[in-house]
Amino acid sequence: MGFYSDQILPRFTNLTLGGRAFTKIRRRVASGLSGDVLEIGFGSGLNVPHYPSSVKRVLAVDPATVGRKLAAHRVAASLVPVEYVGLDAASLPLDSASIDHVLITWTMCTIPDVERALKEIHRVLRPGGELHFVEHGLSSDPQVAKWQNRLTPFQRRWAGGCHLNRPIDQLIEQAGFTLSRIDNYYMKGPKPMGYMFEGLATKT
Ligand SMILES: C[S@@+](CC[C@H](N)C(=O)[O-])C[C@H]1O[C@@H](n2cnc3c(N)ncnc32)[C@H](O)[C@@H]1O
Repeated sequence: MGFYSDQILPRFTNLTLGGRAFTKIRRRVASGLSGDVLEIGFGSGLNVPHYPSSVKRVLAVDPATVGRKLAAHRVAASLVPVEYVGLDAASLPLDSASIDHVLITWTMCTIPDVERALKEIHRVLRPGGELHFVEHGLSSDPQVAKWQNRLTPFQRRWAGGCHLNRPIDQLIEQAGFTLSRIDNYYMKGPKPMGYMFEGLATKT
């Protein structure tokens, strides 16, 4: 990792994903979480203010050191204890069926081995546990999808490995989850970057 991806990108992400439109979505996606929650791609802790009081503790996974620094004030102010437990979602140092719910926001685009990560998430969730997610990914509109496929090689280079064209719903189902709710919509801005998958997936 170079200076740009280590130092600049996490700060840029903290600013852009900290905007009002994202905050509203974070609140929605975090609602209903309870017990022991695993947050994948914890980043700068932008979801911390939205954890419901029913959450007992949050176990955080993220490789970014600067993200931790940026998250420190949110973690310190949080009523819910946050514990860092790992660096890579594709290899979780947790027992099977030990987690009540998982939270993941705008991270599946970036995890190098996302299929393996989703299988790991499925493994550590207890039966009946839910994956709460919001992610950008492959549009259902072929015209937009064509641009997403064209732009992904550039996006990966400047945005830390981020793919614009991952079929998020399919990836979640392939890992063994049942999609219990899914909403697709575009956020404001260029369509190739803004096609969202928001919902809940259950480990049955
Ligand atoms: C676009 S940021 C989103 C951060 C945060 N989830 C949010 O909503 O603000 C993507 C995050 O994924 C993290 N990430 C990248 N590879 C990862 C991996 N293998 N396992 C877990 N997190 C990863 C990055 O360090 C970064 O913090």
